Amino acid sequence: MSGGAGAAELRFVLKFALKPTDAWNLMNTIAVCFVCLGNICRSPSAEAVMLHQVGRARLSEKIVVDSAGTGDWHIGQPPDERAQSAARKRGYDLSLLRGRQISREDFARFDLLIAMDDANAAALTEACPAEYRDKIRLLMEFATRDDSRVVVDPYFGGEEGFERVLDQCEDACEGLLRALRTQLVA
Ligand code: 4NP
Repeated sequence: MSGGAGAAELRFVLKFALKPTDAWNLMNTIAVCFVCLGNICRSPSAEAVMLHQVGRARLSEKIVVDSAGTGDWHIGQPPDERAQSAARKRGYDLSLLRGRQISREDFARFDLLIAMDDANAAALTEACPAEYRDKIRLLMEFATRDDSRVVVDPYFGGEEGFERVLDQCEDACEGLLRALRTQLVA
């Protein structure tokens, strides 16, 4: 066994180390886009959870939050009713969000493109100009309670899947916000 507190701390630092981009340095703002397949279940949930946490931290003017899908099936549609209902019970309002597909401009515009699962990350990587590929991350990298690698797709399952999505988003967005704070100069 290797480890001890020092090693654990180092793993924590490495896990949460983010590379500041030019935009972060110049504007002192950070723009984050959550990405799933349809942009009607997981990424709008992550967007709402992150917006709530950013507002609570009084960082709304510093951190811009958006979401998109890699697919085009749900462009213009509101989030899935099951996602809206689960979110509403926890105080998140998804009703005004509308599905959109990730676009080429998003890779330049956002500092971080945060994928829900490996398929989303692979689709992003394929579409992304090489110079921006290090902006692509998995949301669950930032989680500290749930050690799942991905936010599981709830679309073809039951309501409990939507609760799990929110649990995972709440956990990972806390870690993401902690990591972003270290990049923001007061
Ligand atoms: P999301 O979930 O990627 O979390 O928005 C899905 C939404 C739609 C489909 C699959 C997953 N679909 O097959 O239409």
